[in-house]
Amino acid sequence: MPDQGVQNVEQRLAALFEHLGLVRAHFGVQNTAEMDPIIAGQPERIASLAMIGLNRLQAATVAPIADRLLLMYGDGGAGVDAVAASLPSLPNAESHCFEDYVVLTWSDVVADRGGEIFPLWLDFLGRAEARNPASLPRIERSEGEVAGEVAGITYRIRGGGPALVLLPMLLSASQWEPIVERLAEHFCVISLGGRYLGGVAFIDGRGTDPGYLRGVHMHINEIDIQPGETVLDVGCGPGSLDRWLARHTQCANPITAVDVNGYFLREAAAIAEAEGLSGIISFGPGNAEDLPFPENSFDVVMSHTVMEECDAERMLAEMIRVARPGGRVAVMVRAVDMRSLWNLPVSAAIKAKVEAPVLSVGEKGCADASLYRRFGRSGLTDLKLFPTTMTVNDPDGYTWKYYEPYLFSLLDADETAQWRAAKAQAIADKSILLARWLHCAVGTKVV
Ligand SMILES: C[S@@+](CC[C@H](N)C(=O)[O-])C[C@H]1O[C@@H](n2cnc3c(N)ncnc32)[C@H](O)[C@@H]1O
Repeated sequence: MPDQGVQNVEQRLAALFEHLGLVRAHFGVQNTAEMDPIIAGQPERIASLAMIGLNRLQAATVAPIADRLLLMYGDGGAGVDAVAASLPSLPNAESHCFEDYVVLTWSDVVADRGGEIFPLWLDFLGRAEARNPASLPRIERSEGEVAGEVAGITYRIRGGGPALVLLPMLLSASQWEPIVERLAEHFCVISLGGRYLGGVAFIDGRGTDPGYLRGVHMHINEIDIQPGETVLDVGCGPGSLDRWLARHTQCANPITAVDVNGYFLREAAAIAEAEGLSGIISFGPGNAEDLPFPENSFDVVMSHTVMEECDAERMLAEMIRVARPGGRVAVMVRAVDMRSLWNLPVSAAIKAKVEAPVLSVGEKGCADASLYRRFGRSGLTDLKLFPTTMTVNDPDGYTWKYYEPYLFSLLDADETAQWRAAKAQAIADKSILLARWLHCAVGTKVV
């Protein structure tokens, strides 16, 4: 079905619900970004809401449905603070903490903790269903799976029973799949996807933002890609930068893009196809720590904001291995060792809190200036090492909306009110801006 002129996610979801005849459903999400307007405007649509592996939470936002809310979070990572700050004002909500589990943006929480999640969620759903039944979608039942697309949102329907809608998670590689079949024995499970939701909207929103592309451009310029050279993109996500690069080079360079996340790879291929770029970019599975290519395969091997999540030493060694002699290896990482800039007129005390680095990095990952030392001792030559920035100017864009709620877990009620007033002022005087640092490194493999 075509887009029918709908613009925002709220309208897209409304069109989908209308098409499926979903008056009321149970929902599973990681964070509530896409659900916020529904919670605020049509809470009766929500028979229950489970936030699984959450790393953001604003009590005021979920308060209207707190009596049918389930929160599952780790005992490490940003979610703990958010939950600790919010739970006292949500006394009716149910919660469960995964012990010895740090939830990061890329955690594969359902794969890691599905055995724990499934029985608790099923029990919660059963009780919520008894109190407030969900409606059935107006889809003809058939054996196996029904799939379709409405207003740019894709859906897959499995199983039968009351409706359970699963919105895509952030960077989780397996998404909900490890428990979907079991849920489908009890519920009509409707898994949503497409470029406007979840991790794809998050990463693609950043990857198509001029404020991020400015930094990427600076990095790619140093690679000095020549027409016809082959490019490998390691950890491509939804392929935003591959599409940008294909256009930037006027399709003069074949791009091979790999990722460990099947959800991203499927969505990346669909978006590239829709944009007429599938001839120049090929997407496939590939682990940065064990790249599925022989040595000396590519002229350029690049990666953007992936080394944070991997074993950095192994990843760099693999990128160098598959680069041909004379080829360039280029890595960009988020800089968790540098303060960000939220350009709002707030007090120094608030600035000190919100601009402090957020230590979002894997155990063996690299998200600091050690990138430069790693390149220095890697054997690569002709090194170009420099920091750059990404900026976000749109407070209504997905990137801003993702970062900002984390801050509310750091601020008290008074500071939050000051923040909101300062934000309104910065919007009014057109000076609103978030800037974050990135470290960049480019080197040449010796001939
Ligand atoms: C923050 S996204 C960056 C996507 C893209 N490079 C960009 O800048 O828009 C990080 C990506 O790295 C991928 N990733 C994480 N660990 C990986 C690994 N070991 N091998 C390949 N990809 C990996 C994730 O699945 C995710 O798609």
